[in-house]
Amino acid sequence: MPAETSAAPAADLLGLFPPGSRVDPDGELVVGGCRLTDLAAAWGTPLYVVAEAAVRDQVRRFRRALDANWPRARMVFASKAFPCTAGYRLMAEEGIGVDVAGAGELAMALAGGVDPARIVLHGNAKTRAELRMALDAGVGLIVIDNSDDIDRLEELAPAGQRVLVRVIPGVRPDTYDAVATGQAGSKFGLPIPAARAAIDRLRRSHRLRLDGLHVHIGSQIMSAEPYARAIEAVAGLGQFPVYNLGGGLGVRYTYTDQPPSPEDWVGALASAARQYLPASAELIIEPGRTLVGPFGVTLYRVISVKGDDPCFVAVDGGMGDNLDVALYGQRFEATITSRVGGGHPAELVGRHCESGDRLISGAVLRDPRPGDLLAMAATGAYCFTMANNYNGALRPPVVFCRDGQPRLVVRRETLTDLMSRDVLPG
Ligand code: LLP
Repeated sequence: MPAETSAAPAADLLGLFPPGSRVDPDGELVVGGCRLTDLAAAWGTPLYVVAEAAVRDQVRRFRRALDANWPRARMVFASKAFPCTAGYRLMAEEGIGVDVAGAGELAMALAGGVDPARIVLHGNAKTRAELRMALDAGVGLIVIDNSDDIDRLEELAPAGQRVLVRVIPGVRPDTYDAVATGQAGSKFGLPIPAARAAIDRLRRSHRLRLDGLHVHIGSQIMSAEPYARAIEAVAGLGQFPVYNLGGGLGVRYTYTDQPPSPEDWVGALASAARQYLPASAELIIEPGRTLVGPFGVTLYRVISVKGDDPCFVAVDGGMGDNLDVALYGQRFEATITSRVGGGHPAELVGRHCESGDRLISGAVLRDPRPGDLLAMAATGAYCFTMANNYNGALRPPVVFCRDGQPRLVVRRETLTDLMSRDVLPG
């Protein structure tokens, strides 16, 4: 990724933080109505901060767009983007369902009060135990990824269990290899001929009720155009009552990112559906990243500032709380919370024993010093999800902020937690 060489004005930078973010008269960055320096003082760093009202607004925006474009439609939150009980509860309060990929997410969804009938179960390797758990819970829709899923469900499911078949449409969206899923050779779902065979089998099933098809072509996708191709590709499989079109709409991590708006994306999906799918069909969308990504911020403390060219700014987190940079080179932006915008390029690095633990190459920071608080924008999706204990790092807490009121929804991991699974010699 090329280093950012021009100093971004504060206004541009603020545009990458949750809506409503501002700089206080004394120069401190405020998110969700809360001064970030106060949050760090209360809960320490690294810390995930979520602007709760902004997440709720985004869910409502998608729902309005669906109502306007395809009233027989519903959305489920792809909960892998931010799986904690408070997140599930928030989505349940907003009246939407969730998709889960496995027993852990299912357990959290149920604990968060999500109506099981509104849960969609995914997974390319669902175990018998997970299927049994989902069936016992009364999960509304199970997405068939392979014929082994059908074998197991024929044995375990109560009569009438509703299922979808996940189809590989043969569409490769313009995104990172690690998160493209619609292309030939994907490990998810069935190619068209195998999907046709699964559909034939399910139509003869006495237990399973085939409701329709599922396609999910990938993540961090910056154009609606490949979705139309995917819809066209699966339309030839016959007419069904339900089409789950997946998620994948990209978000703005940096100045040059220009994803379609929710309205444009939903509008494009609906117009492709009008062209290729039955008018009576129910559409499901399952966005993840776009419901949470832009509305989360990670706070770090600057620990060390070393050298001139390059200048390394090292913080108290890194690939233990944000794997996206190491995983596929996602670009982020950051600021010192008391000196917002402007400055010079620095190498913002984490604390882990790995040269690849570089959070932002060419981060434009104004006069960074040890002890400064640093905020990294657009970390609301998949960062909390993929947090890990590399180098014994303790996974960070999560604070929801709404109208200036912070509330802790996940506490920081402790050293005792870290060793809680170790079996000591008796
Ligand atoms: N539906 C299915 C079946 C999915 O597998 C996913 C994401 C979504 C919906 C939601 O996609 P989204 O709207 O969030 O793009 N770990 C990666 C992201 C992997 C996405 C996996 N599937 C990351 O850190 O960016």
